[in-house]
Parts: sequence; C-alpha cells; structure tokens
Amino acid sequence: MVARFKTQVGIVGAGPAGLMLSHLLHLHGIDSIVLEARSRQYCEERVRAGVLEQGSVDLLHRSGLGTRLDREGMRHEGIEIGLNRKRFRIPLSELTGGKAVTVYGQHEVVKDLIARRLADGGDLRFECGEVSAHCLESERPLLRTSGASGEAEIHCDFIAGCDGSHGVCRPSIPVSALSTYERSYPFAWLGILAAAPPSRGELLYMHHERGFALYSMRSPAITRLYLQCRPDEDLDQWSDDRIWSELHTRLDCDDGWQPIEGRILQKGITGMRSFVVEPMQFGRMFLAGDAAHIVPPTGAKGMNLALADVVVLSEALRAYYKKNSTGPLDRYSNVCLRRVWKAQRFSWWMTSLLHCFEDASPFDRRRQLAELDYLTGSRAAAASLAENYVGLTMEF
Ligand code: FAD
Ligand code: PHB
Repeated sequence: MVARFKTQVGIVGAGPAGLMLSHLLHLHGIDSIVLEARSRQYCEERVRAGVLEQGSVDLLHRSGLGTRLDREGMRHEGIEIGLNRKRFRIPLSELTGGKAVTVYGQHEVVKDLIARRLADGGDLRFECGEVSAHCLESERPLLRTSGASGEAEIHCDFIAGCDGSHGVCRPSIPVSALSTYERSYPFAWLGILAAAPPSRGELLYMHHERGFALYSMRSPAITRLYLQCRPDEDLDQWSDDRIWSELHTRLDCDDGWQPIEGRILQKGITGMRSFVVEPMQFGRMFLAGDAAHIVPPTGAKGMNLALADVVVLSEALRAYYKKNSTGPLDRYSNVCLRRVWKAQRFSWWMTSLLHCFEDASPFDRRRQLAELDYLTGSRAAAASLAENYVGLTMEF
C-alpha cells in the first residue's frame, strides 16, 4: 500500500537550505514536508561550515532563531591575511560601516532549525529512504519515497530541491534543460577539529610556499584548522604529529604567535570545486543551495548562499500564495544567480590568491605575491575583500 500525503511545498534535504525554507514558509503560513535521507543525529553532528555573514545572522535573528546564536556565536570584526610569517588585519567592521561575521557552526544552525521546526509542529521525515521527483512540469508535482517503512507519495504544489551536491533533484531535470559551469582546483583541504582553545580571536588565512593554511575555530575550547593538500591525499599518511608539524611550519609567525595544540577530534579531506547550474528552476521544481551551486570554501560562502537562496524562494512562494502573483517565482533563478556568480567570483579570487599552484609560472607567482602585497597595503583593496566577506546586501 502506498501512503498518500498532500502539502504545499515538498522539500528534499534537511540541510541549512531545506530547514530554513521550511521555517520561513511556516512563518508565512505555508505548509511543507521535509524529506531527509540521513538520521537527525547525523544532520546535527555533521561538521562543515562555520562562518555566518552579517545577512545570515540578521536572518536568524529576524526569524526568531537568535537566542543560542547570541549566546554562543563569536562575532568577528576582522580577519587576518598572513604572508611570510607576518599577519595583516582586514578590519571588516571598520571597512563596511559596522558589519561583521559570526563564527557559529553549521551544525549548530541545523540543530536550532530542527528544534524550532519540531516545536512548531513541522513535518520533518528523517531516514526517509529513496526519494524520487516526478511530474515536474505539471500543476501537481510529486515526490515518492520508498524505504523500510513502506512507500509514500507526497503530492505538492511545488518542490524545493535542497538536497546538496549529490542529491536526486538536480539529476531529475532533463540535461538539455540545464547549463552547467564548472571548475576544479588542483588541491584540496585537510581539515581538523582540535580540542584546543583558540590562541587568536580572529581567523587567519595564511599564504605559505608549502601551501595555504587556515586558522579558524568553533568555540572557546575548539580550534578548526585546514591545510592545503593534494586532491588525492591519503589521510592515513597524516599522523597527528605530522599534521601539527605542518600547521606550525605554515602558521607560526615571527612575533611568536602559533596555534595551540590539542587532541585531534576529527580529520577529513575536502575537495575544491566551483559549480553552477542554470537556471535554478525546472517547471515547478526550484533548486536551492549546494543542489544548484558549489563554491570552494576559501570565501566561506556556501552555507550563506544556501540561506540567501531560500530567503528569495520563500518570498516568491509567499507572493504566489498570498497575492496570487507568479512574477517573483519566475524571477527566482535570475535573482539568485546574480548573487551566486558574485560569490563564485569572490571564492575563486580568494582561492587563487592564497593557494600554491604547482604549475604556476614565475610570472604567475610574482603576480600573486604582488596581489597579496596590494591587498595588505591598500585600504581600497581591503575594503573590497571586506564588503564581499561580510556578505553583499540581499536583493529581491
Ligand atoms: P547540505 O548541507 O548538503 O544539505 C543537503 C541535505 O540533503 C543533506 O542533509 C543530505 O543528507 C540531504 N540529501 C541528499 N540527498 C538526498 C536525497 N536523495 N533524499 C533526501 N535527502 C537527501 N560554507 C560557508 O558558508 N562557510 C564556511 O565556512 C564553509 N566551510 C565549509 C567547510 C567544509 C569542510 C565544507 C565541506 C563545506 C563548507 N561550506 C562552508 C559549505 C557549506 O557547508 C554548504 O554550502 C552547505 O552545507 C549547503 O547547504 P545545503 O542545505 O544547500 O546542502
Ligand atoms: C571554518 O571554520 O570551517 C571555515 C572558516 C572559513 C572558511 C572556511 C571554513 O573560509
């Protein structure tokens, strides 16, 4: 027997995009069902992004999700760029009229959203089994699930594909209806989470001749660090001692600053990719977040873009249901893509600026060093980085 359900918006994926969309729709009086392949615990413990733009922080506040963020989030009014064992501060707030970023783990955002959706009576279905999307060009698109608990059909007005880069929604759109734009990078990041108190109050992006390194954090007791490595790097070759030794080589500064060591709680390799699909819509299916675009993590934009997409989508769905207007839904893809491409440009630029490219010519290398010199010596250049890093204004 197939169980049948009806909802206004069927959402695939309980990451930041899917959960925030469901929450914003609820605030607008629009109902949704969220289908998630993984368990609630897995979603709440998956360590990924850590930096919220000013606009994302404002969104969490105005949608009633600011309590724990205010208590535990770490507001950063600057970041540092490192070169040749020296650090240069980019005063984000001073250069952007008081804006800042907040360090608050993506899994904390996810935890807050899940708790709030459940408290509001939201329909979140974890471990939902195989999902497939159908009849996307009809007035009544359909999601089907099949798993241990049987088969179900969810009849929707609209489907939101918020299922990340390896989800099922994007592949259910005919290839001929989409254009894809892609770039891969000849390196990856080896990331660790360490039980060590941060020894600096701000993030440090370090360019080093042995490769880029990033000093970040999650809480007053946990440091998050990354090392540029090869895309096919074998994690087994990286003992804890080797990781700390390489981090010291790349991060330690002439003034005596160095990261504090601690027990390594988690390690992993993250690939680097730029990817965009256009348009972010097919019939009555709308793609949001990583399902539609991937940025290399250097600019800290992925989660923020996912949140920005669903703000636009929730407003467009509100216009449809409350004002009978389809214009905002028709414009959804174009509105999002303008922001997405600016974030792509910024993430590509930060990545190119800070990493070592093995195939760089002597000219490329000199140009890269000149760009770092310009950035750390020019207020105008620093202001451009700051404007993008804290996040461009959300447009509708
Ligand atoms: P996801 O978080 O990927 O959520 C998609 C959900 O869909 C998942 O829960 C998945 O289980 C589910 N799903 C997938 N397939 C199916 C299916 N078939 N059926 C049902 N459910 C399905 N971004 C930043 O903004 N700042 C940072 O500092 C930053 N750092 C990062 C560091 C690392 C190491 C990594 C890996 C990423 C980082 N990002 C960062 C990127 C950020 O994590 C992603 O952009 C963000 O998770 C996108 O959210 P999303 O909701 O679109 O997708
Ligand atoms: C992180 O803390 O995980 C982080 C911070 C900044 C980035 C990427 C990742 O650019």
